[in-house]
Amino acid sequence: MLKIVVCVSGGGTNLQAVIDAIARGSITNARIEAVISNNPGAYALKRAEEHGIANVCISPKQFETRGLFNQAFLEKVSSYQPDLIVLAGFLVVIPEIMIREYQNRIINIHPSLIPSFCGTGYYGLKVHEGVLKRGVKVTGATVHFVDEGTDTGPIILQKPVLVEEGDTPELLQRRVMEQAEWSILPQAIDLIANGKVTVTEGRTVIDWKKA
Ligand code: GAR
Repeated sequence: MLKIVVCVSGGGTNLQAVIDAIARGSITNARIEAVISNNPGAYALKRAEEHGIANVCISPKQFETRGLFNQAFLEKVSSYQPDLIVLAGFLVVIPEIMIREYQNRIINIHPSLIPSFCGTGYYGLKVHEGVLKRGVKVTGATVHFVDEGTDTGPIILQKPVLVEEGDTPELLQRRVMEQAEWSILPQAIDLIANGKVTVTEGRTVIDWKKA
């Protein structure tokens, strides 16, 4: 049974998608041990509470230095002994020491087709603003392993979504969630939980035969 810790900062609709997928059996061999947020007001914490999942807030604001936060954050996450850490709209930079300790065991959902509209400064609505400003016709979402860079780790799954005439950043954000994020994040977790994802030379190989 894959033990998962989910890190969140906001509404937690991706967290909800994972909770629902486990409940209906589309993710197998996995359970959420805890939900961790840097934001005490995150609605995601309520979602966890409602489903009887351990939930805790740990914020950089509670610590004098970033180093102290990083240490406490790593200790908190590790206290749940996770096999997989899922960043589901988590807006805190993951400490390098943690990336090394959990190599290829941290995944992130990003609301664009990486390598477009990603990297420093591209998060949440800013991604969709960038997409509309550039005028691309296709966007989407990506699930990837987290490495030392920003949105540079091995890609696990991607799904395209059409940009439509009259889209606002908010409308596009919602469509990318509905048509891509809420399906590929649970699917990636299910693939990992069932041993179907391997990483070789910075790229993933998915064993679809066994899927
Ligand atoms: C999601 O769109 C996720 O892809 C994005 O934040 C949103 C969180 O929504 N993540 C990033 O931009 C990371 N760079 P949620 O709290 O409703 O799941």
